[in-house]
Amino acid sequence: MIKIFSYKTAEEAGIAAAAVIAEQVKNKPATVLGLATGSSPVPMYRELARRCDAGEISFKEVKTVNLDEYVGLTADHDQSFSYFMFDNLFNHIDIKKENVNLPNGMAADPVAERDRYDAVIASMGGVDIQVLGIGNNGHIGFNEPADHFSYGTVLVELTDSTIDANSRFFERREDVPTRAFTMGIGQIMNAAKIVFVASGKVKADIVEKAFFGPVTPEVPASILRFFKGEVLVYLDEEAAAVIKEKHPDALA
Ligand code: GLP
Repeated sequence: MIKIFSYKTAEEAGIAAAAVIAEQVKNKPATVLGLATGSSPVPMYRELARRCDAGEISFKEVKTVNLDEYVGLTADHDQSFSYFMFDNLFNHIDIKKENVNLPNGMAADPVAERDRYDAVIASMGGVDIQVLGIGNNGHIGFNEPADHFSYGTVLVELTDSTIDANSRFFERREDVPTRAFTMGIGQIMNAAKIVFVASGKVKADIVEKAFFGPVTPEVPASILRFFKGEVLVYLDEEAAAVIKEKHPDALA
């Protein structure tokens, strides 16, 4: 079941999304979290760090698996998703370093790395909450628009639209990696619950397409319509604009 919440600001949407994760971690200290990068989850991570700092929640027993990582960037490169996760969350909470997992973008053997990451995900015994953002082209993780949905970890060629979108974080467009490892759609769909966050007007059309258009691998996020559990969608006013206009009754 999909529930869509719209908030005035991305900050408020992030605080609301963080409350769901905080509740989960309180109820089950050994929670497994699937995590995402991008600017949309940042306010949520900030709020989780605040709650941890305030002693409201602890991540001591939490394990995490991230969705994706660029190929060719070392973990300490300031644009790697590993760096992002430490900078925005892990360095600010009491999680154990050995409990955090991301694909290794520097793996010499991509096939072996896919197998390794599939085994890591399987060893978690199920993701309790999967955090997702959405690319401007509808990607989740780095599952780009395609003619099929993938099950397990994939090595993807990033589309021009994704490279353009992510070039804002790099000095030059040529510096943006062209390939990435991503958790597959099938693995994402195995989570028990999804917390989806998106902000900014650039996301307004694609979130409407994802949640109200046809289910198609051309809009990878649209598969969430078939998700068996709850999909909780936290949008700021700008990202919710097209849904609000076309489906005003759909907003919780
Ligand atoms: C990245 C990540 C996605 C993320 C998306 C949107 O490329 N691979 O997992 O959802 O971009 O990011 P943002 O929230 O910055 O728009």
